[in-house]
Amino acid sequence: MCGIVGYVGPKKAVPILVHGLKRLEYRGYDSAGLVALDRSGARRFRVVGRVQNLDTELFGQDLPMTSGIAHTRWATHGKPTENNAHPHTDSSNQFFVVHNGIIENHDKLRLQLEADGVVFQSETDTEVLSHLLAKFYDGVLEHAVEKTLHLVEGTFGIAAVTTHEPFKIVVARRGSPIVLGLGNKEMFVASDVSALVQYTDQVIYLEDNEMAVLTPDEYAIRTLDNRPISRKTFQIDWKIEDSDLTDFPHYMLKEIYEQPQTVENAMRGRVLQAEGVSKLGGLQAKIDEIKKLRKLILVSCGTSYHAGMVGRYIFEQLTDLNVEVELASEFRYRKLRLDETTGVLALSQSGETIDTLAAIREARRKGAITLGLVNVVGSTIARETDAGVYCHAGPEIGVASTKIFVSQLVILNLIALLIGRYQSVSLSEGMALLKELQELPNLIQKILAQAPLIEDIARKYHKAQSFLFLGRQMHYPVALEGALKLKEISYIHAEGYAAGEMKHGPISLIDEAFPTVALVPRDATYDKMVNNIQEIMARSGPVIAIANEGDRSIGDLVDDVIYVPRTHELLQPILSVVPLQLLAYYAALLLGREIDKPRNLAKSVTVE
Ligand code: G6P
Repeated sequence: MCGIVGYVGPKKAVPILVHGLKRLEYRGYDSAGLVALDRSGARRFRVVGRVQNLDTELFGQDLPMTSGIAHTRWATHGKPTENNAHPHTDSSNQFFVVHNGIIENHDKLRLQLEADGVVFQSETDTEVLSHLLAKFYDGVLEHAVEKTLHLVEGTFGIAAVTTHEPFKIVVARRGSPIVLGLGNKEMFVASDVSALVQYTDQVIYLEDNEMAVLTPDEYAIRTLDNRPISRKTFQIDWKIEDSDLTDFPHYMLKEIYEQPQTVENAMRGRVLQAEGVSKLGGLQAKIDEIKKLRKLILVSCGTSYHAGMVGRYIFEQLTDLNVEVELASEFRYRKLRLDETTGVLALSQSGETIDTLAAIREARRKGAITLGLVNVVGSTIARETDAGVYCHAGPEIGVASTKIFVSQLVILNLIALLIGRYQSVSLSEGMALLKELQELPNLIQKILAQAPLIEDIARKYHKAQSFLFLGRQMHYPVALEGALKLKEISYIHAEGYAAGEMKHGPISLIDEAFPTVALVPRDATYDKMVNNIQEIMARSGPVIAIANEGDRSIGDLVDDVIYVPRTHELLQPILSVVPLQLLAYYAALLLGREIDKPRNLAKSVTVE
């Protein structure tokens, strides 16, 4: 979704701003813009479409300015046009603002400003902010920002500048992330650390209802009601190389191929093989409360929700907890009865998904213990939960999540084992699970080696209008995830279904042009899955099976089969999902889609 970058220091600001925007491209956007300032005034540039168009617009311009702010916009209010692109300005072109989030009372504020004679230039909710800044300016930009934000309802991460004080950036947040990057006599700001890693590894995250004033030499943080704040600096553990494509054509493929490493990173230092238990430092501070839990609710969105669904089976198998799983966007509006015997575990790659964050806040308000399983270190969910575990998977850039799903499944097993070993899981069960967990990187390599076969299967079917994905038990969410991957990046309609429900509806769709991907591991549901496959084949539906190595009879039955190694039942989804990721990737490639930046999607969804 929308991205913010800002710079103030001794260097030329424009190349830094553009570079920062490029680092944020993966988040999803449809227009971009920047404003750069010095004592002689401000220059603003805005384009529809890619940041590359901004490069074209800037080509050959002499832009010596050393401060500025920039933005990528993901349209909410008003179409992606140049006029609607940020930065927005006031009627005198002296105040500029970029904004992530939604100003909920913008209609009312707009009417009041129009009554004062203000003429609006865009259809956005954001533009009210620039006019309010002009209205309240008393010679100190932060005063105007403070007064403006007191009138605002909704969510915001903003950066504001004025030609009156060209070497100052004021930022503020409520609900949308803002990160300060500290340099040597220069300051950076962004909505996401990926825009900063090239310049500094020292960052500070603003909390809700805080603002910061940045000048080349210093920063000052205070609350929106003017209390000074001192905040510790965070060291980012990503390197710029982590977010480079290296030799891969797309980030999604790179991240699929990183998965053996992702599994290792998720386990590193966390496996106590001889004791058959895991060691998770991030949960230690709350371990006494965690041991007393009777119920666990897993909340998340998108791919993280599918990981949560798999997690339910893992926790049911390994612990004595009652387990629920729910979409964060639904959970937060339920009439909840929670107390300290309920744990609410939020799964989130970004740690910024607004619905997941709101779910955690609601759970905490009602007295539950909140836990996080998050990839981005220092993100809001990571900071706001009582305890948690990081994926340590490095940046995930491809909008369609892959390696984080696998990482989340590994860590869900580790968390469940930690709790389960205080309950009924035996030493030998714990040791067996951990032993197989450590085999996974090699087994994933074996699946990746089958990429040419999977590409051939994608070639055979990529012109289909629709796909069905079927699975049972732990493989039902894997089917949902396979369908999600395919629709996200190839735009082929795909549905995931619990195979037992097939006869209650989707079977009416089956014909020779409607392929089904059937997840048919050798587990307790095997025979039932084979029956489902037979029913599809009896109606001339093509079937691609994801089966365990050595399962010849499936090979003889279906049109196409991709074999995955067999592992511990609780770990099998980690292997079964890999061919589905590759299938989606190759289908999208053959259809010529923009794989890493699929239309309309955003990597991190920071509006409700
Ligand atoms: C967006 C992304 C998905 C992701 C979901 C949840 O929709 O495009 O890939 O699964 O948000 O994101 P989170 O960061 O909370 O895991």
